[in-house]
Amino acid sequence: MTQPTPDTLLAYCRQGFEGELAAELSDQVASLGVASYCRAAEGSGYVSCHCIDGDAAAIWRQLPWRELVFARQLTWRLAQVTELPANNRAEPLADCVAGHVDAVSQLWLEHPDTNAGKQLSRFCRRFTAPLQRALRQRGVVTDEPGACRLHLFFTDSTSADIAVSEPSNSAPWPMGTPRLRRPRQAPSRSTLKLDEAIQTFMDAGERERWIRPGMTAVDLGAAPGGWTWQLVQRHIAVTAVDNGPLDADLMTSGLVEHVLADGFRYRPPRPVDWLVCDIVEQPRRVFDLVISWLERGDCSAAIANLKLPMKQRRDTVRDALARLQASPVAHSRRCGAKQLYHDREEVTLFVAPTG
Ligand SMILES: C[S@@+](CC[C@H](N)C(=O)[O-])C[C@H]1O[C@@H](n2cnc3c(N)ncnc32)[C@H](O)[C@@H]1O
Repeated sequence: MTQPTPDTLLAYCRQGFEGELAAELSDQVASLGVASYCRAAEGSGYVSCHCIDGDAAAIWRQLPWRELVFARQLTWRLAQVTELPANNRAEPLADCVAGHVDAVSQLWLEHPDTNAGKQLSRFCRRFTAPLQRALRQRGVVTDEPGACRLHLFFTDSTSADIAVSEPSNSAPWPMGTPRLRRPRQAPSRSTLKLDEAIQTFMDAGERERWIRPGMTAVDLGAAPGGWTWQLVQRHIAVTAVDNGPLDADLMTSGLVEHVLADGFRYRPPRPVDWLVCDIVEQPRRVFDLVISWLERGDCSAAIANLKLPMKQRRDTVRDALARLQASPVAHSRRCGAKQLYHDREEVTLFVAPTG
């Protein structure tokens, strides 16, 4: 059975953050002058946002995915298919897709990032090739450069949402989850958070301009050194501040100075390019610290982890971003926050020069 859903956005999130994502989407859509309501089942890992009096396609094009804190992925949902026959899913599904799109750049079969959803990952992998064949037979080209990406989001093996995303305004990874491997030499798993932040907040050109060999950084709460390791890999000299021990191999790079000090009191002798901070503390305290570094000119750019409280998680992030936007720091900088795949009850704050 096919149900067209032309006025709906579909966004994925970390399980348990559906309420935060729904509130964020409603606010963003309202700021574009359109009323909406969201469906967000708790624990489902996704939210649908229904635009009541506006064009969802236009809204979707104007909503910057990177600026949505709780959205791992942002798509425009075209239709829902249910009751696919278990012995022949590809043909009816391909018929339905062909009724909505002509050419797509990629085909991604996805499912919610939940325990129930994970049961579908094998099915999605196996079903990709037959579906691709069925789409080609119907003239749906699946490697058209510049076209939208096609998402088939399965909530069970007989029901899927048909959605599209713009490659330039969406996560470049299936399910919005980067498959980053922890490098063997990296001192901690935490290293992946900074790697993901660098890949999420900056495009290739920005990474080249803003993260260059020879730059300097301070890493507050550095031990055992996963974040410092990421910076050293990019040939950045790091002052690693932590009373805890740093990984011994990291120290042999010649690019790391270990300072045993309280990160809330330490100040650099001269300004650095980057401040990164992974101290587990009250989010407000960490935020105050980061903004004070930026306002005093101790650093030009910053990435910091903000641990979210049990309640008012969205308010905490919203207040921090509002304070950042109101600060002179924001004038010549791009500021944002995002709950990354490797973040749990946290979000990552990002501030970097524009241009
Ligand atoms: C989550 S760990 C950091 C992990 C690190 N980013 C990595 O990738 O290996 C938090 C660190 O913050 C340090 N820390 C906690 N309070 C601190 C403070 N006031 N000043 C400096 N470091 C602090 C702890 O010693 C701990 O090593």
